[in-house]
Amino acid sequence: MDRFQIEGGLPLKGQVRISGAKNAALPILCAALLTDEPLVIHNVPPLRDVGTMRRLLAGMGLRIEVDAQASDGQDSLTLQANAVNKLEAPYELVKTMRASVLVLGPMLARFGQALVSLPGGCAIGQRPVDQHIRGLQAMGAQIEIDHGFIKAKASRLKGARITTDMVTVTGTENLMMAACLADGTTVIDNAACEPEVLDLANCLIAMGAKISGAGTDRITIEGVERLHGADYTVMPDRIEAGTFLCAVMASGGEIFAQGARPDQMGATLDKLRESGLQITEQADGIVARASGRPKSVNVRTAPYPGFATDMQAQIMAVNAIANGTGLVVETIFENRFMHVQEMRRLGAQIDIDGHTAVVKGVAQLTGARVMATDLRASAGLVIAGLVADGVTDIDRIYHLDRGYDRMEEKLRGLGARVTRVKDSP
Ligand code: UD1
Repeated sequence: MDRFQIEGGLPLKGQVRISGAKNAALPILCAALLTDEPLVIHNVPPLRDVGTMRRLLAGMGLRIEVDAQASDGQDSLTLQANAVNKLEAPYELVKTMRASVLVLGPMLARFGQALVSLPGGCAIGQRPVDQHIRGLQAMGAQIEIDHGFIKAKASRLKGARITTDMVTVTGTENLMMAACLADGTTVIDNAACEPEVLDLANCLIAMGAKISGAGTDRITIEGVERLHGADYTVMPDRIEAGTFLCAVMASGGEIFAQGARPDQMGATLDKLRESGLQITEQADGIVARASGRPKSVNVRTAPYPGFATDMQAQIMAVNAIANGTGLVVETIFENRFMHVQEMRRLGAQIDIDGHTAVVKGVAQLTGARVMATDLRASAGLVIAGLVADGVTDIDRIYHLDRGYDRMEEKLRGLGARVTRVKDSP
């Protein structure tokens, strides 16, 4: 298992290119299931989760080609679902990546049946998929849970009015994809407004789907008989960009996050400005400059356009070394404070009271050996390690590799001392 070894204390300086967005790439790869024609997808980040999704789709019979000419370290993939022979998402893959459930809607809509392993519990919370199931049932699907699998059938899905009980990102995406090939019009109310949902919708529209309102909480989809192939470029990763901005806020220095889209990062930029980061929005990215200790900020996670739960651990690392006391309230997942124990090992003063973490900033963290527990928790620990005095070793860095594209290389490019240590098995 790999770990990161970080020698803290250096400011960050230079330019970092933001990769394609994991949470947009994953549903867009699944959209290939909706047509027998080739879907060409550019700016796909080479991440472990993308690899898992590729294995899942290849296992179903999709042809996947990688364009060797693609530049900037991102992949261009051509997917074609003209010989799908296995309508199943097996337990082995779903248990490693919950986003596997995104094949359910497209499979059912195009092929009339699907067998998808029911995701189990997860490090950050229960994360049920009842809203995905309920929405598909409203569209006429017959669904039963059988031996740990979601077993779904439908002759042809029918348009429906669906109001989800809570805002769910992959739930909205699953239902939107399914509705594209349904008979009639589907309206999804209380839909997730995340930019990744809009990116998926734009790809589906390029494939011939009739979708309006994506990016708002009411999405209307007029079903069509068939979709066709398209050529689509995945949006930049706003969480990766936000992570680098938190890193410079904590470490000091000046970076240019090339490709970051300020218009999609409002809540993160507001909080970082409040904590003292000087941010210049440019057409092709974000310049961020920091000096001195950050100021503590209060943060409450919420669906977009609120502050993203996927940025919570990173802003907590900033608060850990800030002047003052900041409250971090997690409202999306019930168990997303696993990094707190580890940050305490670095000297952070954090108390948890239910869904609230009270973070009393300290002048200096001290390096220690810590353990990554989930994807974004790992990013928070990396930021803490970058400012800690001495050496911080972060174990189980495979969590980070699920969603960050060569983070250690990018940080080294900004002057940080980060190495990946391969421990013998
Ligand atoms: C997506 C993101 C993830 C992010 C999360 C919240 C992807 C691949 N992943 O995850 O990075 O942290 O949004 O922004 O895009 N819920 C239910 N029933 C359901 C669906 C959701 O109770 O059927 C609950 C969840 O347990 C959670 C909340 O709704 O408490 C939001 O979850 P959701 O938006 O669905 O998260 P994901 O789509 O899994």
